[in-house]
Amino acid sequence: MLKQNNSFLTKETQKIEDRLDLSEITIRHGVHSYRYGTSNFLSVIFDVLEPKENDIFYDLGSGYGLVLKYASQKFPNVRFKGIEILKERYDFSMKLKAKYPLKNVEFYNCDMFSHDFSDGTIFYLFNPLFGSQYAQLLDRLKAIAVKHQITIVAESKHDVFDAQDWLQNYCTIHEDVLRNIQFFRSTCLQD
Ligand SMILES: C[S@@+](CC[C@H](N)C(=O)[O-])C[C@H]1O[C@@H](n2cnc3c(N)ncnc32)[C@H](O)[C@@H]1O
Repeated sequence: MLKQNNSFLTKETQKIEDRLDLSEITIRHGVHSYRYGTSNFLSVIFDVLEPKENDIFYDLGSGYGLVLKYASQKFPNVRFKGIEILKERYDFSMKLKAKYPLKNVEFYNCDMFSHDFSDGTIFYLFNPLFGSQYAQLLDRLKAIAVKHQITIVAESKHDVFDAQDWLQNYCTIHEDVLRNIQFFRSTCLQD
């Protein structure tokens, strides 16, 4: 089974987190949600997803690139893309890409709303946004879903996806009594 070298990566990413200054970041990039967290459930998430060769998987708000490191090594024939607004986190993900090397991953350092991710077929979101920003994201995702079916995996926050009549929840992973990870498929494909 593929495992992240968790203690090393956690120490390295924590050093960067410790140096981040929220006010300075906000002055630089504007008001966004800069909270950080990463999944402990990658093995089970990707067992459910089983991405195929023609899939393009996006981590929207890709942080340090840990999800894509895991997934790209496990599925070398699938294309993975990560979009991360904070340069400090993006730079670390680029180091991972060079070190291993992760040939089937592309990382982008920008605001997800300024990036065209319409080629995506699977979107993973570990609660990257403030509540008020999700409406804009849902509009973007729905515009993609009328052209080709998409899958959305929502970890930590999924109520905004539950509420969409064009998304069908097809799987739930229970993290603990309070939290779960939800898998959705779009149902609004137009001929
Ligand atoms: C909770 S972290 C999850 C990181 C990663 N997906 C993981 O699971 O390891 C959310 C990330 O989204 C980023 N983020 C927030 N708003 C963003 C935006 N508008 N565009 C791109 N990234 C954003 C944050 O900087 C943060 O690194």
